[in-house]
Parts: sequence; structure tokens; C-alpha cells
Amino acid sequence: TRIFLDGADPEETRQVLKALGFLDGQTTNPSLIAKNPAAQAHKVAGNKFSGTAIYEFYKELCQELAALLPQGSISIEVYGDAKTTTEAMLTQARQFDTWIKNAHIKLPTTAAGLEAASVLVGEGRRVNMTLVFSQEQAAAVYAATKGARRGAVFLSPFIGRLDDRGENGMDLIRHILRMYQASDGHVEVLTASVRSMEHLLCALSIGSDIITAPYKLLMAWAEAGIPIPGPDYAYAPGNLAPIPDEGLPLDKPWQEYAIGHPLTDSGMVKFSEDWNGLIDMSS
Ligand code: E4P
Repeated sequence: TRIFLDGADPEETRQVLKALGFLDGQTTNPSLIAKNPAAQAHKVAGNKFSGTAIYEFYKELCQELAALLPQGSISIEVYGDAKTTTEAMLTQARQFDTWIKNAHIKLPTTAAGLEAASVLVGEGRRVNMTLVFSQEQAAAVYAATKGARRGAVFLSPFIGRLDDRGENGMDLIRHILRMYQASDGHVEVLTASVRSMEHLLCALSIGSDIITAPYKLLMAWAEAGIPIPGPDYAYAPGNLAPIPDEGLPLDKPWQEYAIGHPLTDSGMVKFSEDWNGLIDMSS
């Protein structure tokens, strides 16, 4: 399992690298960019970014992260609201790929995002399909990116946001891992929206390919001596109820899966609001 930092502040990256002694990559998103101290300072000073300056800011940030993690992956998220077309996502993705060598382009798991992913992997680029909340979406991502090489496609189920509404996010990870057992392995599961030590240890014990966790959690993990859960751990695979079935068949065209999910829609709304909140719309 590879460990990523979920954040957009290079100072945090430096500190986590120091505390853990390693870091395999970093995931960013528009809400995290909005929380970056320099972005906040701009906003507080009443000095919002212009439409082009915000991308210059994001680019410099990603270049700094890539310099800190030259062997790691840096996820850069496209702006996507309900109206964003596949073409608009492709334009952003190709632009991001010129910024750094180790980018995974984050795209929403919607019809427009899946269409874009399918084109991008065909061009040999890497993608991170985000705002995943269901097995149907995971099956669609697999189908839309078929033919990609291993490592080119990350799938990001958001477990904390499922827990927030009384569902079991970790169970979704278990079901997807089970479903992908029968696959060619070109999609890697990146457990995201990780909120607690239990999430982190559980995702480790069940063998998520990648886990992205926030700064505070990775620092607490380092402080506790980087514990790795053993077979006695409550959430070790042998102690969990078996997954009853193999999930969905993975051989359909991606358009045939039921990909809509309300949390994907509300997640896109929040991401675009946070991004737009940084921009001076009159510029
Ligand atoms: C990372 O890829 C995700 O964007 C992030 O983990 C979302 O986390 P949140 O649900 O805590 O905002």
C-alpha cells in the first residue's frame, strides 16, 4: 500500500516527509487549494485571483509538490461543474500535464469525466477518477479505461463522506477490491476522504492499493510509530464478514452502468464553489 498526503500546502508535505521518512504522492482538490495559506491570504486581503492567475498559482504549487516528491504522483483536479463538457476537461488535463511529469489528472466520475478519462488514457496520460461512491461507478471507471497500463488509473472512493450519511465507506472499498479481483488490475483503488486512524489502519489491513490521508492523521500515525495492523486487528480481513458476491460484471460498455450518485453531484458543486470563491469574477 502506498501512502499519499491529501492536501495543498507544501509545508505540510515537507513535515510529513520528515516525520514518516517517505511519502508516495499527494492528492489536491479545489477545496484544499482554497485552504492553502497563501490562497487564503490573498482572499482575506480582498485580493482575489484573476481567472488566469489562479492557474498560475495552482501550477506553481504543483511544481513545488513535484519537486518535493519527484518519484511520487501528484493529483491535479480539473474544474468541473454540472455544465463542464468533456472537451473543457480535456483542455485542462492536457494543460496540467505540461506542468509536471508525474501528474494524475483528477476527473469527476460523471459521464463527461468518464468520456474524458477514456480519451486521456488513450493518449497515454494518467487519471484519478474522483468522487466515487458506488460499485457501479467503479465498474464504469474500469470499463472506460480498459487498455490502460497499471498505474495509469486511480479510483478514489470517498469513504468519509459515505460515513457522514450513515453508510459504511470502508465496506465500499472492500466490495470494490473484491470486484476488481477478477480484473486485469489496470485500476488501482485509492482510499480517499479518510478521516480517522481507524480508516487509515483498516484501509491498510484490507490492502487498498493507495491511501490518501490528511496532514494531521499522517503526523499522528508517524508519532505512534507507523503502526501496521496485524491479524488480530478488529478490521483485519480474517475478522471481517466475507463479501457475499463478486460484485458487478466488468465487461459492459461504461455507458451501461448506473453512474449517477447524489454525492458526486453535491461534491462537484462544493468543489466549484470553493474554486470560484478564490476568483475575482469581474476579472
Ligand atoms: C482526495 O483525493 C479527496 O479529494 C479528499 O480525500 C476528499 O476528502 P474530504 O471528503 O474530507 O473532503
